[in-house]
Amino acid sequence: MEALHIIGDEHQSLAAILHAIRFMLKEVAAGRLEADRQLFRAMVHYLDAYAEQRHHPKEDLLFERLAQRSDEGREALAELAVQHAAAPQRIAVLQAALADYLADAGRFAAFAEAFEHYADFYRQHMLLEEDVALPLVRKHLSAEDWADLDAAFRAEMAGKALGDGEREDFAALFSKLVDCAPAPLGFGPRPWRDG
Ligand SMILES: [Fe+2]
Ligand SMILES: [Fe+2]
Repeated sequence: MEALHIIGDEHQSLAAILHAIRFMLKEVAAGRLEADRQLFRAMVHYLDAYAEQRHHPKEDLLFERLAQRSDEGREALAELAVQHAAAPQRIAVLQAALADYLADAGRFAAFAEAFEHYADFYRQHMLLEEDVALPLVRKHLSAEDWADLDAAFRAEMAGKALGDGEREDFAALFSKLVDCAPAPLGFGPRPWRDG
């Protein structure tokens, strides 16, 4: 069940980034931290490119297999499918608020509000997966299913490791984000630099 470990690890990383952004926004709002808008931009990129584009498709493999094996959890799976499909619209709202804030520091409050909305959604989404869908996946899939799915996940992860230009190294990006995020969540604050 390597696939389940990968999903669990990704949920932990995503929760950490959501928590870090929320913490930074609160500290900035309270005047205790200088805003690093480029770090916010890098974190939103992580949510777009990884949380929305790379993470959900792997879960879809698990949920589609579950739907073939059992009727249990049909409603939750339908809801998750709708939520996965709405990723482009969801991230576009956050990106638009970020673009406004990057252009005009006075738009901080609107960006913070858009982020809170996004983070609330994503937390609920992960809870539905962790509490309802993944336990059913664990319950109903067979050893053969796991052999298929582990292989598919391994191939997906190996593609990432090739660094073929299209594949970004998200583990390295995550470490860099944590390096720049302020303590106690990260090792910073350190200014974000691209590259
Ligand atoms: Fe998901
Ligand atoms: Fe997820």
